Amino acid sequence: MSNVAVIGAQWGDEGKGKIVDWLSERADVVVRFQGGHNAGHTLVIGNQTYKLSLMPSGVVRPGKLAVIGSGVVVDPWAFLDELERLRAQGLVLEPGDLLVAETACLILPVHRRLDQAREAARGDRKIGTTGRGIGPAYEDKAGRRAVRVADLAEPETLKAKVSYLAEHHNAYLRGLGEAEIDPAELLAELMAIAPRILPFAGRVWERLDQARLANKRILFEGAQAVMLDVDHGTYPFVTSSNTVAGQAATGAGIGPTAIGYVLGIAKAYTTRVGAGPFPTELQDVVGRTLGERGHEFGTVTGRARRCGWFDAVMVRQAVKTGGINGIALTKLDVLDGFKTLKVCTSYRLDGSTLDHFPAAQGAQSRVEPMYETVDGWAESTRGARSWAQLPANAIKYIRRIEELIEAPVALLSTSPERDDTILVKDPFTAGP
Ligand code: GDP
Ligand code: IMO
Ligand code: MG
Repeated sequence: MSNVAVIGAQWGDEGKGKIVDWLSERADVVVRFQGGHNAGHTLVIGNQTYKLSLMPSGVVRPGKLAVIGSGVVVDPWAFLDELERLRAQGLVLEPGDLLVAETACLILPVHRRLDQAREAARGDRKIGTTGRGIGPAYEDKAGRRAVRVADLAEPETLKAKVSYLAEHHNAYLRGLGEAEIDPAELLAELMAIAPRILPFAGRVWERLDQARLANKRILFEGAQAVMLDVDHGTYPFVTSSNTVAGQAATGAGIGPTAIGYVLGIAKAYTTRVGAGPFPTELQDVVGRTLGERGHEFGTVTGRARRCGWFDAVMVRQAVKTGGINGIALTKLDVLDGFKTLKVCTSYRLDGSTLDHFPAAQGAQSRVEPMYETVDGWAESTRGARSWAQLPANAIKYIRRIEELIEAPVALLSTSPERDDTILVKDPFTAGP
């Protein structure tokens, strides 16, 4: 029996939430290990739709422990808003059901202001962040200035940290012409919110260790994706955390051997929201058709997602850097009805052929996709729940993708609905 880590294999929004929710039926604990409320994970269960940002997808299943690990940056106000929103949808979420690492760093209002001010200052070089303060919060974490969840229980520590934080940021804020942090006001806000956050705080590492010793199944839920990883993605057009499977162990507080199988999630085509290189992007009617059929609008910001053909070079690289053992291929149904489909199998750059995504920013923006054209299918795959229901050309498309990305398809998703999912190889029992 093995624990499973789920990570995005493209640029996010691959359907991680749907797959984690489906898998979590057989898990005991679901853990978020990086990112923050920049994530938007949509779950469709019968006539209910849940939009989760900070909460692990396990919150929708009674009896599962949902965990926000140390590697997550937590906006405490966003946490409470989401909690209330989900409770209003009928979910029971009490401290026994939801655990937040006491070592997690907080996103403060100043981080959001800095994120937005920097983006505005970058003009046409902007990253297109979600504006939620993710980058500045991780900067403060690495800079050893951050306020952590546990600090909310120690007024004196909190006061000293807030004062140092104000001292550090106010010089920069003055330079930007932005309002400065009033340490007394920030301290009062944090003290006011502390009693609502602290009941959820605890030793995640200990609970995960207990779960491991009791042979409980742990599901690690990634946010963002390998191509948005701060090391392995399209830097600087990335998020500020590591999104690869190695981070699941670090960001949760458990050893890497606790993860038995890494499931990468990939769409049957490609999307990206925000700025940055995207070799297979289609700015034509095909791109617009993919966007319309796939309802490609961001869950968090509502922005239209950029759309393009499946990029096998990029996903193969994500398989290797992310440590992916198998793929859940999602949104196959969106490709129904295309006469032909294209798959990117290599890039051209300055007269040479590349089998990888280059590291240099200029090269990343200049690579040209080289395509292989494959036959599409006229039949509908939407809602298919067995392999036998798939048209022959859809199976051929899947098989070709497996070859190109050098990883097997373990799961297939054919609609937003939880149960419209085909299991090919069970990640919990497959082994690496
Ligand atoms: P995440 O960030 O990776 O969890 O993905 P999002 O939830 O942001 O975006 C994926 C979107 O596609 C959501 O609206 C899902 O409901 C939807 N979705 C997931 N799987 C499928 C599928 O197989 N087919 C279709 N048509 N939609 C899907
Ligand atoms: P899920 O978990 C898609 C993108 C932003 C921007 C870049 C940096 O739903 O797949 P940030 O706010 O993190 O500093 O923004 O990363 N981005 C995402 N794109 N899905 C996400 O999450 C994303 N989270 C961040 O659009 O390009
Ligand atoms: Mg999303």
